[in-house]
Amino acid sequence: MKLELREITKRFGDFTANDAISIVVESGTVHALLGENGAGKSTLMNVLFGLYDPDGGEILLDDQPVEFTGPGDAMAAGIGMVHQHFMLVHPFTVAENVMLGHEDVVGPAKLLDLEAARARVREISHRFGFNVDPDAVVEDLSVGAQQRVEIIKALSRDAEVLILDEPTAVLTPQETDELLSIVKDLRDSGTAVVLITHKLREVKAVADTITVIRRGKVVGTAEPTASQEELASLMVGRDVSMTVDKGPADPGEAMLVVEDLTVVDDATQVTQLDRVSFDVRGGEILAIAGVQGNGQTELAEAILGVVPTAAGTVRLDGETVTGRSIRQALDAGIGFVPEDRTTDGIVAEFTNANNLILDLYDRAPFSKAGAISPSVVRENAQKQVERFDVRTTGIDALTGSLSGGNQQKVVLARELTRELKLLIASQPTRGLDVGSIEFVHKRIIEERDKGVACIIISSELDEVYALADRIAVMYHGRIVGIVPPDTDRDTLGLMMAGAHEEEAA
Ligand SMILES: Nc1ncnc2c1ncn2[C@@H]1O[C@H](COP(=O)(O)OP(=O)(O)OP(=O)(O)O)[C@@H](O)[C@H]1O
Ligand SMILES: [Mg+2]
Repeated sequence: MKLELREITKRFGDFTANDAISIVVESGTVHALLGENGAGKSTLMNVLFGLYDPDGGEILLDDQPVEFTGPGDAMAAGIGMVHQHFMLVHPFTVAENVMLGHEDVVGPAKLLDLEAARARVREISHRFGFNVDPDAVVEDLSVGAQQRVEIIKALSRDAEVLILDEPTAVLTPQETDELLSIVKDLRDSGTAVVLITHKLREVKAVADTITVIRRGKVVGTAEPTASQEELASLMVGRDVSMTVDKGPADPGEAMLVVEDLTVVDDATQVTQLDRVSFDVRGGEILAIAGVQGNGQTELAEAILGVVPTAAGTVRLDGETVTGRSIRQALDAGIGFVPEDRTTDGIVAEFTNANNLILDLYDRAPFSKAGAISPSVVRENAQKQVERFDVRTTGIDALTGSLSGGNQQKVVLARELTRELKLLIASQPTRGLDVGSIEFVHKRIIEERDKGVACIIISSELDEVYALADRIAVMYHGRIVGIVPPDTDRDTLGLMMAGAHEEEAA
């Protein structure tokens, strides 16, 4: 089915998120939509999916104008969507979520056929190597697993037009390759695919046509043969350096010393972190590489005190911090960028100004003698928004209304502007555009050069190589090796797959 968006305009108040955007997606092609954070990509797709009512323009399917009053209409017309911010119902199981919205097509008697949905989940999950349990409750799943559920849900409907809004943001490299090959198969069988991603490698791998939007307007089209540098500069309107300049580290004393840290899951009694020991010196970046789900999340949370530890100690600047509250850990000078920004990094219903002082509101300079000083809070917000180039209608806008990448920038701005001894950042540049990645990487290196001990947890090897002074590899809850940053990809890959573990065993 051919899809055409003609002069779509969408405003929020007096802000124009989409300004007369036109694109055509032929059936049997992949159309990549590129653009910096806040450019208006998700807004445009939400209009197409019937979630937003456009202020102007029209949608045509096979040259026929259509009007959608909700996602139900869009789905009935053959459109499927993987949302950037997942639209899953948390207390429901995976199979129940997949069934939602197409109850009518499941059984002739219009009965909800849970069995069929479970089978469908198993089938698609198997095809992708996804390992998703149809009976798992969504709220218990990691963000990576939720991403897989979104994809399964969209694919279960055999859509003729498939919208993928950053579908690979939280997938492993293997899962990404798998998804890209499925996208190619779908294209070859006639599906029209719209792909939004910040990963230019993916665009080059599968796109047939590329449209670039900036600040709500189409600024150009590109051929998939264009270089990553060309695509990047078209996106952000300036040259972007794809590699960070980083001088050698000048590490001081051990700032963080972790000994035998062990975390056991309360409910299942599974050991998630198994006697992990390492140290990070002030002025160095230790990157933690590993396939997601090998204990990285638990390690970060255990250092911070979010999860109880079964054994082991954490010392920061000579003082034991194990067993202290999260607040005390933050007070001791730990900056934390959580893996899941929407649930742990921001409060969506708070303004930008307030999210920029979350956890900090009750201390100087934001509070004096127990009272918040609004002028200081506003001044701080104004400064951070400019510095981190947060695209928003203002410091009083609710952070939940920001684009995905801009929400991430709010979290980074808050955590990177305090006086820190230790920075723990999980997937710090997830969802950011290439220009913002360049900026954030520079800021992290600046923290290092100020003497901060930095732990960067990343499943992107490019990011690991860009930042690391040393690389620790995690596998099955353990650190299986700490290696220098010039270790080649194959060796790292093998360590991440547990090869060293077996050798040692
Ligand atoms: N519901 C809303 N209310 C107010 N403003 C909004 C709303 N949704 C989006 N916006 C604004 O519209 C602009 C475009 O947002 P959109 O989510 O479309 O960006 P995007 O291109 O998908 O960016 P990203 O790459 O970060 O996901 C942003 O500046 C955002 O603040
Ligand atoms: Mg988006």
